[in-house]
Amino acid sequence: MRFGVLTGGGDCPGLNAALRGVVVRASRSGHETVGFLDGWKGVRDGLARPLAPADVAGILDRGGTILGSSRTNPFAKEADAARVLDRLAAQGIDVLVAIGGDDTLSAARELHRRGTKVIGVPKTMDNDVRGTDWTFGFHSATAVAVDALERLRDTAGSHHRVIVLEVMGRHAGWVALGTGLAGGADATLVPEEKYDEAALMDHVRAGVRARGYALVVVSEGIELEDRRGSTASSDEFAHELLRERGVGEAVARRIQSATGVETRSAQIGHIQRGGTPDLFDRILATRLGSGAVDLALAGRFGQVAVLRGNAVTGIPLDEAVGPPRTVTPDWLDLLHTFEP
Ligand code: F6P
Repeated sequence: MRFGVLTGGGDCPGLNAALRGVVVRASRSGHETVGFLDGWKGVRDGLARPLAPADVAGILDRGGTILGSSRTNPFAKEADAARVLDRLAAQGIDVLVAIGGDDTLSAARELHRRGTKVIGVPKTMDNDVRGTDWTFGFHSATAVAVDALERLRDTAGSHHRVIVLEVMGRHAGWVALGTGLAGGADATLVPEEKYDEAALMDHVRAGVRARGYALVVVSEGIELEDRRGSTASSDEFAHELLRERGVGEAVARRIQSATGVETRSAQIGHIQRGGTPDLFDRILATRLGSGAVDLALAGRFGQVAVLRGNAVTGIPLDEAVGPPRTVTPDWLDLLHTFEP
């Protein structure tokens, strides 16, 4: 078999480990792999390079993706969709492994519906793909945010201030939850919960009373009543670029005016997406990359390699694509247990 592979959507730590997983597993089973550059753009425009095991040696611990990525939607125009099918045929691709989040997997599902053999691999720092317990990239990216919160704690403590940290995550609060829980924030605001200003100020005041400072984590996806209909720009899949709304800064202003305590905000943005994948993400990405090849070899096309409990298995693309997998009430209950 001739495998094609691409990495689409926002990059995250572990993509290179997943590519290595695909290439090495395919090669060990007697198959070859071609990598498409810059996500679906590379398939549409015929930008590809052969990937042999030697090409993926030494990339396991490198952040980003050696293939490049983009937020290109190959089905935005029918002419592009036709080009995608032609290019795959021209490259002699038997099965395409699409590594990405919901947008990339939606495009993979559309391609599968049009008769191409496709396998999906879920990745995203947002941890919001349906049908898998964890996505790789999440643990590494959230560890960066926890590190940032701990640094902010030092300066907040020295100046007796409140500091608000805004983190990524789109419309799922997993990154904020992980940061607040592992970093010991006084309050964590996630998109899954309605903004409650009175409760937020209570937590902040309690933190300041107890230690002289307070830390608040805000997910970029929360809604503040007066910021609806914001003018933030959108990507090719019509997703608003949420960080442009600056909700962390807005929350900081509200805290200062309600409590009278000097308040600052920080937005770490894409810093969260860079750097070496941690142990969990390296191993998960390796398992899912090689699991995708195993699904193809078993003829299970149109499936996504996912983690369920501690096992890698396959589920139909239809089950993985859809609204984001958001934070569940049991996690929120745990999070709020540790807020003052
Ligand atoms: O989906 C991953 C993510 O980092 C989100 O958390 C964030 O909202 C978005 O990508 C940012 O997109 P871009 O890299 O296109 O600015």
